[in-house]
Amino acid sequence: MSNTSRFEQSLKQAQKEALLKIEQTSELEGLEQIRIKYLGRKGIITSLLKSLKDFPEKERPALGKLSNQIKKQVEEVLLRKTKQLKNGEIARRGEEQFFDYTLPGRKGWEGRLHPLTQINEKIVEIFYGMGFEVARGPDVETDYYNFSALNFPPDHPARDMQDTFYVKDDLLLRTHTSPVQIRVFEKRKPPVRIIAPGRCYRNEAINARSFCTFLQVEGFYVDTDVTFADLKGVLSAFVWELFGRDVALRFRASFFPFTEPSAEVDISCVICGGKGCSVCKHRGWLEILGAGMIDPEVFGAVGYDPEIYSGYAFGMGVDRIAMLKYQIDDIRLFYENDLKFLRQF
Ligand code: DAH
Repeated sequence: MSNTSRFEQSLKQAQKEALLKIEQTSELEGLEQIRIKYLGRKGIITSLLKSLKDFPEKERPALGKLSNQIKKQVEEVLLRKTKQLKNGEIARRGEEQFFDYTLPGRKGWEGRLHPLTQINEKIVEIFYGMGFEVARGPDVETDYYNFSALNFPPDHPARDMQDTFYVKDDLLLRTHTSPVQIRVFEKRKPPVRIIAPGRCYRNEAINARSFCTFLQVEGFYVDTDVTFADLKGVLSAFVWELFGRDVALRFRASFFPFTEPSAEVDISCVICGGKGCSVCKHRGWLEILGAGMIDPEVFGAVGYDPEIYSGYAFGMGVDRIAMLKYQIDDIRLFYENDLKFLRQF
């Protein structure tokens, strides 16, 4: 091989190597090493260029031209890569170091309990403080627990498809929490003093006052010698604790299949104090719950002897109480999950 070809081969080899190394390098430090190795004072390409003077004069121009082209190419590629790496580093440093101290701070999201949950818990807590135990029943009930055992006659209008969501023939979504009475009585002997909160469902027309689902709290106490006076005492204590001592109670005779006698309990209007306003429809009173002495028929169904035991029961709508407490005039607001509404509680 002639000296000329050997020179050309070495030059091209150096070019190939240098370009490959530049491409593979991702550090500025590494690029500098490459520059020194190929283009430094004693670098491979520089040395080749220096050795040009040893070639015969007629070969020099062609070899010189090729050498300079290659040197220039490697320099350019090296420069481009250097810029590229520097830009990347600046951007990275910018991300690390740039902080705008004038930006307003961002507050963490604060969670809270739904207003219905708050009132539900409050009601349960008041009765818990008076010696009641908490019990729960299933949302999907049988006709027996929801109706028959509670002394609803077979043709009672509340069983009508209008009011009850049926899952299938004998299975339904409970329309009230009273079935928890039966479930507890079946398992336990008196004395039983229970508070049973839970969700109920009714196939009713939806409007500002009624919704297809709502929360109820059921309470009951069975023992020897439980009287209507005990019921009045416990409900008065409850109302005064929840709404304040100024509120008056009124027991109105009523009817429920599972209590005898039965009553509906009103409280003096918490908005106007009984003078009459739009919330109490100018009556001065608000109905808040149903109650009564447990019917002997119910005791019969669960094997309690009505000659020995007596008991009271009551049931109240949590949604309605929450509406009165917070002065909310549309029950649907509880179920829309509008944060503007929920953040107020
Ligand atoms: N279960 C009744 C209802 O949903 C409320 C009720 C009334 C419950 C009287 C009772 C009671 O325990 O004694 O409308």
